[in-house]
Amino acid sequence: KNIVVLVSGSGTNLQRIIDCTESGEIPDAKIALVVADRECFGLQRAEKHGIPSHLIRKGKEFSSKLTQLVPADTDLVVLAGFLSILNTDFCEKFSGKIINIHPALLPKFGGKGMWGNHVHEAVLNAGETESGATVHLVTAGIDEGDIILQKSFAVSEDETPESLAEKVHSIEYEIFPKAINKVLGR
Ligand code: GRF
Repeated sequence: KNIVVLVSGSGTNLQRIIDCTESGEIPDAKIALVVADRECFGLQRAEKHGIPSHLIRKGKEFSSKLTQLVPADTDLVVLAGFLSILNTDFCEKFSGKIINIHPALLPKFGGKGMWGNHVHEAVLNAGETESGATVHLVTAGIDEGDIILQKSFAVSEDETPESLAEKVHSIEYEIFPKAINKVLGR
């Protein structure tokens, strides 16, 4: 199976997926391509593992350029800390084959502006007793597609956005490979 991963940041989730394809935890699958919408460490992770990588700068043309770049026989497009919004054409071309990881328990704390520490601050401000991570299908609506896998944890008394981010990340490393296997029919 051929996976394409889209990144905008440090790419620790990308690293986890690379490690799982190399170890066989995600069996019979390879990352065929990594695409970033800005200069980021995720690109260097791809290079280090000999994975073809490409930078398409974010902007109006991003999705159309991406549509040209991503091979039509791609089995799965994985958004791993990816911050641009994909257009309807791309979402329809790969319908049911695009997944995203979100650092909260969707449908709560999703939508425009809900990324990075903004999410964790919103969770704390709302006095939530739990948070978590969600892997979901990507549709043209932001954070709206069907949920594939979700896992929660209790928010502690002394929680900060940074401590939440750390807890969410470790949950992400656990559920992302599982969700990928699930979508690939394993
Ligand atoms: C993750 O928390 C993910 O949920 C969010 O962006 C973060 C990416 O982290 N969409 P990394 O680049 O994989 O380390």
